[in-house]
Amino acid sequence: MLWASRGARLPAILVTVALTSLHSVAQEHAGATGAEGGHEGASHLERKYPLTENAPLQLRCSATAGDWCQKALKQEPIPWRTAPRGSKDCSPADCNNAGRCNYDTGLCECTAGWTGSDCATPQKRPCTNKQRTIADPRKEPTSFIGPDKRDLDWTNMAKVYSRCGGVCDDDVAICYCDGPMGRIPAPEGSPPGTPPIRRGRPLVTFHMAPTTTWDKKPAFGEHEYHLVYGPQGYCNVTEPIWMPNCGLDDLAGQNCDEPLEPFCPGACSGHGRCNLGFCFCDDGYYGHDCSRRKAGLPLLPSRIPTTPWLASVVREPPAALEPPPRATRRRPLVYVYDLEPLFQARLLQYRISPPWCVHRRHDLPGNHTVWSDMWVYAADGMLHESLLLSEHRTFDPEEADFFFVPHQASCLPFPIGSWADWPWFRGPGGPRPRQMANMLMDTVEWINATHPFWQRRGGRDHVFLFTHDEGACWAPNVLNNSIWLTHWGRMGLDHKSQTAFWQDIYDMEAKSPHQPEGWLVHTKGHACYNPEKDLVIPAFKQPKHYIHSPLLGAPSKPRDLFFFFKGDVGKHRAPQYSRGVRQKIYQLAKAGKWHEEHKFFIGGNDDEHVHGDYSEMLSRATFCLVTGGDGWSARLEDAVLHGCIPVIIFDRVHAVFESILDLDSFSVRIAEADVEKILDILKALPERKIKAKQAHLGHVWHRFRYASLPGLATELLALRQKNTDDPSAAPSDGALHLPRPFKGDDTVDDAFSTIMQWLHSRIPYTRG
Ligand SMILES: *[C@@H]1O[C@H](CO)[C@@H](O)[C@H](O)[C@H]1NC(C)=O
Ligand SMILES: *[C@@H]1O[C@H](CO)[C@@H](O)[C@H](O)[C@H]1NC(C)=O
Ligand SMILES: *[C@@H]1O[C@H](CO)[C@@H](O)[C@H](O)[C@H]1NC(C)=O
Ligand SMILES: *[C@@H]1O[C@H](CO)[C@@H](O)[C@H](O)[C@H]1NC(C)=O
Repeated sequence: MLWASRGARLPAILVTVALTSLHSVAQEHAGATGAEGGHEGASHLERKYPLTENAPLQLRCSATAGDWCQKALKQEPIPWRTAPRGSKDCSPADCNNAGRCNYDTGLCECTAGWTGSDCATPQKRPCTNKQRTIADPRKEPTSFIGPDKRDLDWTNMAKVYSRCGGVCDDDVAICYCDGPMGRIPAPEGSPPGTPPIRRGRPLVTFHMAPTTTWDKKPAFGEHEYHLVYGPQGYCNVTEPIWMPNCGLDDLAGQNCDEPLEPFCPGACSGHGRCNLGFCFCDDGYYGHDCSRRKAGLPLLPSRIPTTPWLASVVREPPAALEPPPRATRRRPLVYVYDLEPLFQARLLQYRISPPWCVHRRHDLPGNHTVWSDMWVYAADGMLHESLLLSEHRTFDPEEADFFFVPHQASCLPFPIGSWADWPWFRGPGGPRPRQMANMLMDTVEWINATHPFWQRRGGRDHVFLFTHDEGACWAPNVLNNSIWLTHWGRMGLDHKSQTAFWQDIYDMEAKSPHQPEGWLVHTKGHACYNPEKDLVIPAFKQPKHYIHSPLLGAPSKPRDLFFFFKGDVGKHRAPQYSRGVRQKIYQLAKAGKWHEEHKFFIGGNDDEHVHGDYSEMLSRATFCLVTGGDGWSARLEDAVLHGCIPVIIFDRVHAVFESILDLDSFSVRIAEADVEKILDILKALPERKIKAKQAHLGHVWHRFRYASLPGLATELLALRQKNTDDPSAAPSDGALHLPRPFKGDDTVDDAFSTIMQWLHSRIPYTRG
């Protein structure tokens, strides 16, 4: 429901049935759309100084815990050296037109469909999932795709949405039309990288699938046959009666024939061509974002500045400039791996819905940028791309303080594992975390086999991000020493999966011929998060999500709601959902008529008193609930971004940045055992304390939003301008309400910078 209402390209029903796990977190965000907040200065500094690089340390490090902030800001800058460049040629030099050469390793990195050090070995991905689609389980699942790339047995299937009703591009498992508007593949036996004779209109499995016959009623995920293959059908005529959603990231428009800029990290630095997530680099450029230049060749101008829709959102990485843009820079220096594409770029190529797996994409008209509000794991792409474009990035692994591994594990279970026969990591089967854990083990094996850096410090300086519902609870033990960034701050060694979705259960064993020992021996025994070395980081909320926040310049109004929570209050859930917290508060509030008597608002979609714009409601509230749902829940972000005091009820679970900020100064924590006393506890807080907490919120809120990407900074500034200029938005009473509106540079000390500043303090520990 959330997805459909956000202009996502998927019919809601597909989403609800298919994406159970993502859905569980997505529902968490269903309540969440915009916002309003305020802030007031406990510190008079704030009134004097906008937040900029030059603001006093006392202001910049306000409400932090420990000395990481001061140390990062006071550090001695180091010389910015030009990085060495690689010169090892690949064989063949052009990687058979099916990949790009990495001049550091001399190995080809292959696009979907091909593998091997020369990208000449086929690695196909048929448009089918045998396990899922066979109608008669007694029948042997044979290959479903013939040499002509068409389905061999179109009528014998249980689930059409995982089959191709046309011609399959079995490099990526993307289905295209048959017939007049259809695909004509390259002749059989063509060399790698040969384009199809005609690309054809996409008929992407899963959301564009026709029924198998004229007379069949469309079932889940299907469309009436005649819409696709009738006389006026989409695959038969130029101007069809049916206008589907395209389902491919580089096509848009009524009939899916207008070109769109697809997403690639860093837009291939303006030195390559983006193929649905994989960068083909221009001659002599290399790396997964084509930012590196082969030794001995002159640098060429990037195309980003001359491509308006790219120039507005990304830039060429500063690390790529020679000479460096400045004489000095600050630590930490982070090396971003050019990973084997199977763990990163190819998972983007395999996705069957464009908004999946990405924090931003382009759309009509004019390739404008759309920030994700439906892909709840978007911090993955956000952190990755922010690093690529950051001054903290170094191309020189020898000077790097940290190694970032930009894997796309959170993307893996959705478009990937469930919809086609491949890729499987160490065989199919088992819950989804098994695939993710196995992929990360393969990733470490690949790193260790390709580079010396893992061995050097036992992985301690390697950084992994876990955005999935179950955080890093399922992380393979081989990552024990590495730094885990996660949304799920669950502590304690004795943890069990509590999810309602069997696909996500991370402690369910699955043995197979490919992994006879099972997978749990590789993952069990560690905590989901260790505050000593790991960090709970914010989920990505796009700026429009908190559009009504006074922190974003919206008119500052009195907070007339005492308490606010909108979301799933567990009416149809198992008792362990939210550890019973939401349910209990909801029932107490209902029985005691709290919303009438105390302006204490909690409820779900069918509770009228919580209706209204989510951002607006959060901006009107003094206290906002932060507790779990099925797994982690981005409610702290919602509260803080709106200047609402978070009320955290989550035993033995760290909230975002809890290990590095003075959370007490701007939040309230209540033990789960005391949940029944919530009203009394909050009512007993003196006005003075509430004001102090609200003021502190104004000093930290910016650390909870991502603003380092050039496009985000621009967007935030524009929204603040719009909010401030809006004539209908005059403050209701002219009084000053806390927290005070934000003044300053949006890119300073945002979530990304906070993570960097904290990493700086961790350098000595990685040296072990
Ligand atoms: C539409 O195209 C398909 C595939 O080529 C063909 O079998 C079918 O007869 C066409 N339908 C009509 C009504 O032309
Ligand atoms: C959008 O980007 C694509 C791919 O770069 C390009 O072919 C197309 O012309 C662009 N559209 C517009 C309206 O500029
Ligand atoms: C890394 O490779 C070395 C051999 O080069 C091996 O001894 C070590 O066990 C490997 N470590 C991992 C984590 O695979
Ligand atoms: C990782 O930590 C767990 C729990 O402390 C332990 O059981 C396991 O042996 C460790 N594995 C490695 C490879 O260090």
